[in-house]
Amino acid sequence: MTAARIQCAVLGLGRLGYYHAKNLLTEVRGAAIVQVIDPLPGRAKDVAQTFGVASYSDDVLDAFSNPAVDAVVIVTPTRTHAEMIKLAASYGKDVFVEKPLTLQLEESIDVTKAVEEAGIICQVGFMRRFDPAYADAKRRIAAGEIGKPLYYKGFTRDAGAPPPEFIKDSGGLFVDCSIHDYDIARYLIGAEITAISGHGRVLKYPFMEAYGDVDHALSYFEFDNGAAGDAEASRNSPYGYDIRAEIIGSEGSLFIGELRDKSLTILNATGSRYEIIPDFQTRFHDAYRLELQHFIDCVRSRNTPIVTAEDATINLKIALAATESMRSGKKVVLQPQASL
Ligand SMILES: NC(=O)c1ccc[n+]([C@@H]2O[C@H](COP(=O)([O-])OP(=O)(O)OC[C@H]3O[C@@H](n4cnc5c(N)ncnc54)[C@H](O)[C@@H]3O)[C@@H](O)[C@H]2O)c1
Repeated sequence: MTAARIQCAVLGLGRLGYYHAKNLLTEVRGAAIVQVIDPLPGRAKDVAQTFGVASYSDDVLDAFSNPAVDAVVIVTPTRTHAEMIKLAASYGKDVFVEKPLTLQLEESIDVTKAVEEAGIICQVGFMRRFDPAYADAKRRIAAGEIGKPLYYKGFTRDAGAPPPEFIKDSGGLFVDCSIHDYDIARYLIGAEITAISGHGRVLKYPFMEAYGDVDHALSYFEFDNGAAGDAEASRNSPYGYDIRAEIIGSEGSLFIGELRDKSLTILNATGSRYEIIPDFQTRFHDAYRLELQHFIDCVRSRNTPIVTAEDATINLKIALAATESMRSGKKVVLQPQASL
């Protein structure tokens, strides 16, 4: 790699892809975007013009075969990720890819192997690990400030239901949402999940029944070091985007996250109030910026990222087990542990 800056192509310029492209250009040191790609007519051209990117295309193959591209940032729909990562591996391009890698466990294992065999860097978008509050919790747990971490409690509440077109390909609430809790719980507790039970119901959005999905769910899980945890996921948080966690240790607890958006309290004759974080871009702005910085730093140093394709596969295995448990009504044991 000769370029001073890591030359990236951004694949998929939708809700999150546009945001990642903007972050790469404005907030990440050592990165450049050489190409943007999206099959939606006119989309890549518009984004290229907005950001002053020289090259755009509606065909992802253009990025893989482009010798000027060092790394691809894959923010396309989940069903396309696996094939693109395999292509990246075959062309020797490093990969940042949004979660999940795929909805099929076998495919996730295949992709993980392809990444390892090709020796490319592959970081997956479990951005909570980079959020300053979660990252600080990790440091404090390591420093022994709450003793031994014993229990993880997490909430992932979306402000509303995404449209049916998204739900039908999302893999369901455990795979789409709780997967973030499984990842950060494994990271903070420092252990692997060995058993899980999942529960869920449609409470607000009847259209989800047609897709076998639920809009409110709870999973309870056990770790191989004796710790335990639970994660609630919901599409019914009309007050805003509500992501919080608690780590209960033998000597104390850590509360992570809050509802308040800005440090502003509004007072008038009706009382006092503050505004609530509206969406994931607001809550995780720093995390999205810092995860891309970590990726670029890893590409440059050839160090393994702190969240890999193997982590993504383990997280998927746990989420699929929670889904299976919800349907069967039985706890699922992940033998011998939730690893590959
Ligand atoms: N980490 C997170 O918190 C988080 C949040 C939201 C979404 N995501 C993930 O990001 C990914 C994208 O989600 P989104 O909400 O931005 O979706 P989106 O539908 O808004 O955008 C997807 C874009 O990809 C384009 N596209 C479709 N097929 C393509 C192909 N073959 N090649 C190139 N581009 C293609 C579409 O035209 C669209 O512009 C999903 O995997 C999703 O799970 C992660």
